[in-house]
Amino acid sequence: MSIRPPAEAYEKVPTVIFPDSAKAAKTLAQEVKQLIETKNKAGKPAVLGMATGSTPVPFYRELIRLHKEEGLSFKNVITFNLDEYYGLSSDHPESYSMFMAEQLFDHIDIPKANINLPSGTVPGDQVFNHCRQYEEKIEASGGIDLQILGIGRTGHIGFNEPGSSRDSLTRRITLDRVTRQDAASDFRGEQNVPHFAITMGVGTILRAKKLVLMAWGENKAVMVAKAVEGPMTEVISASFLQDHPDARFFIDHGASRELTRVKLPWLVGPASWTPRETRRAMVWQAFKIKRPILKLVDEHYNENGLSDLLSEQGPAYQLNIRIFNQLQHTITGWPGGKPDEDDTYRPERARPYPKRCLVFSPEPQDAITGMGGTIDRLVEQGHDVRLIALTSGSLRVPDSEADKFAETLLELASNATNPTTWEPQVAYAREALGLLEAKGEFGEDPPLLRQLKGLILRGELRDAAHTVGLANDRVTFVDLPFYENGRYRRFKSTEEDHKVLVRLLQEHKPHQIYITGDAADPSSVAGICFRLLVAALQSCGGEDFAGSCSVWLYRGKERPLEPHEIDMAIPMSPLQIERKANALSRYGALSSLEKEAPETNRENARLYDALGLAEYEAIETFQRWRRV
Ligand code: GLP
Repeated sequence: MSIRPPAEAYEKVPTVIFPDSAKAAKTLAQEVKQLIETKNKAGKPAVLGMATGSTPVPFYRELIRLHKEEGLSFKNVITFNLDEYYGLSSDHPESYSMFMAEQLFDHIDIPKANINLPSGTVPGDQVFNHCRQYEEKIEASGGIDLQILGIGRTGHIGFNEPGSSRDSLTRRITLDRVTRQDAASDFRGEQNVPHFAITMGVGTILRAKKLVLMAWGENKAVMVAKAVEGPMTEVISASFLQDHPDARFFIDHGASRELTRVKLPWLVGPASWTPRETRRAMVWQAFKIKRPILKLVDEHYNENGLSDLLSEQGPAYQLNIRIFNQLQHTITGWPGGKPDEDDTYRPERARPYPKRCLVFSPEPQDAITGMGGTIDRLVEQGHDVRLIALTSGSLRVPDSEADKFAETLLELASNATNPTTWEPQVAYAREALGLLEAKGEFGEDPPLLRQLKGLILRGELRDAAHTVGLANDRVTFVDLPFYENGRYRRFKSTEEDHKVLVRLLQEHKPHQIYITGDAADPSSVAGICFRLLVAALQSCGGEDFAGSCSVWLYRGKERPLEPHEIDMAIPMSPLQIERKANALSRYGALSSLEKEAPETNRENARLYDALGLAEYEAIETFQRWRRV
């Protein structure tokens, strides 16, 4: 066997893959505890560099737990935050100053005087001095002992957008379009996201004694791989961590998926040729040399580092046929199983028929985006399909929509023949308009506004569901309480959420479940919903239906499944894809990614075609959930 380079040959920064973000957060919090204790014993403060965003939230929760339950004190800790939006005052709900107060500082015993963040309101002509003073203050405190980092979609650390040099210092920068898009949900629309920020520079960050960059979920995978394995470049400021003697990446499985050792393990060491790995290697090879599976020959295997796969499972043609058949068997027009047919090689079992199918949509738009065509088929084939919108999704609805709705109501009332019967509606609309006015652009929605926005989405979902064959009474809204906290980053599921899902499962006793979010950032709505469903299924473990129910994972906002990951591929006719596009057009506030769903389905079909399988117009894809 050929000698392969170890993972380290590819990875230029030590990278630890944790089973999940909670475990990583615990490990890091323990390190911080030791650091604080060691420094304090030596009579010195521990100096921590802090980050914002959803990534460090589990870590901050663990620090709070250590403080409350294990008496870890932060009295002798100094903190410096990486960055702050420029133009936001420290009491603005989306300022990083508020974020830190809510997520950490208000819950521990750190003295206010020890907390440092760049100011978002320093006048323009004083920005330069302010930044210099921030640098000096870090120096005067003895330098940062441990800097915590996340990574943005442009590969940035802090707000060091592409183009930031290795030696850049604290300064005001212009935010990249992608970064502003990512912050849009926090700010209720991209138009509200500030254009500028003050951030520590790459050089400032690299002066910290130790650095840990955390990343969770598949959305971070590409940037993590580029930063860890790619060249050091100003285009991806996180890649400069390669230039630090004590920098590490702490990531979860999702964020690791583009690393060579995970993606192409046979290039790194002896691979274990499980069916999925074999499929992955074959698909990778076929795409790499642009040949369909059935046309691969010995030379291709050898030239692509797959000679041991060939010697273990060859000859080539047999192996090709086996994998081709596996891929072929993922295709079915019968997502609920084909009744009265041999189901040995079909993704879903034939019986029972019809099935009770629960389609879970974390936010109201997810299920139609991810599997509108499949819902269409399930309904057409006579299954008992119920679409369950898990959260109200109200945070996506801009104030202008609520305003429009309230105004329409008032106008209707003013045109009514008997205006007195409209009094309650008029009162409701007036109250809504008053609340909108009072809360201002960034204030939190009080319950009535959340309800109104939720109702707007309910209407959209019912409308969209109709176009894929679901009548109003087949759509259920459960408004999980975790979502109703008013802001994205406050989500934390509780026993109440769990109970709702257990009750739903027990009531409907499904034969089939569809859900998304397994690969999402665990702190996202879809990620939280997925974990809640898993926990609810586990709680129902003793019941008959839970043992035999099949769980299919679809893709909502996450990256599409690659062909080797697909366990069920549902072809869509040109007419069906049109119906899906039509269904999606019913939503007012789809992100550009969500709007692209039909194009993603078309691309799936192109990939299957390129592998030598049948050429369809479009395909929706699913993965079988393997119980944990
Ligand atoms: C912002 C912050 C970064 C953070 C990034 C990712 O750009 N300035 O420090 O790493 O967002 O945020 P999230 O953790 O929410 O993905």
